[in-house]
Amino acid sequence: MSDALPAYYDDLAGSLSRSWALIEEGAADRHSPCHTATIASLDQSGAPSLRVMVMREARRADRRLRFHTDSRADKVDELQEDARTGILLYDADAKIQLRLHGHSEIETRSAAADEAWDNADNYARRCYLADPAPGTMVAHPTSGLRAELEGVKPTDEQLAPARPNFSILRVTIERIEYLYLAHQGHRRARFDWTGDRWEGQWLVP
Ligand SMILES: Cc1cc2nc3c(=O)[nH]c(=O)nc-3n(C[C@H](O)[C@H](O)[C@H](O)COP(=O)(O)O)c2cc1C
Repeated sequence: MSDALPAYYDDLAGSLSRSWALIEEGAADRHSPCHTATIASLDQSGAPSLRVMVMREARRADRRLRFHTDSRADKVDELQEDARTGILLYDADAKIQLRLHGHSEIETRSAAADEAWDNADNYARRCYLADPAPGTMVAHPTSGLRAELEGVKPTDEQLAPARPNFSILRVTIERIEYLYLAHQGHRRARFDWTGDRWEGQWLVP
């Protein structure tokens, strides 16, 4: 007996809509498998560089996703050097893989960055107190935090020096590649943003 096929199985526009629904759910629901995205940039040597990041916001209307990062992180330098960004999402229950392509912008001093900082709790903000910067080579294992900050929620006053280390990473999506796994036969499609609409194309899986 084969699994019931969804209404969007052979529907290109429906497959795009399902893709965005998964992306939006990933940002809104911390239990969604799409809440943690794999983000790809290119490092200084041109090699792929991947890391997991929490997707904080997704807006279908302007194709933008928001992530948070330390301003001093390697990925910030990499994405400022070459804004091309890959994002990988996989929801095993939905049986859908999404490969997103877009370009990144980093915002440290902006109203949106201030708002994201204001909405973060002090535990989340504590990461941005790391000194020296994330990725620095050190002689001994460390969290990067001063001893009195470990395991405690810092005060607003203790967090003041952290704010310049906090940035938002915005990715504007230009292409979505969709793969739906089905016993009857997989479905694969590509959607390209043309400047005013999404153009869809079925592909052989
Ligand atoms: C579950 C999980 C969630 C993470 N979320 C973030 C995040 O939202 N932002 C971030 O900068 N790093 C996040 N990280 C850490 C990154 O994967 C990475 O180790 C770190 O940012 C350094 O990456 P970089 O050297 O490429 O800048 C997360 C890691 C895990 C395992």
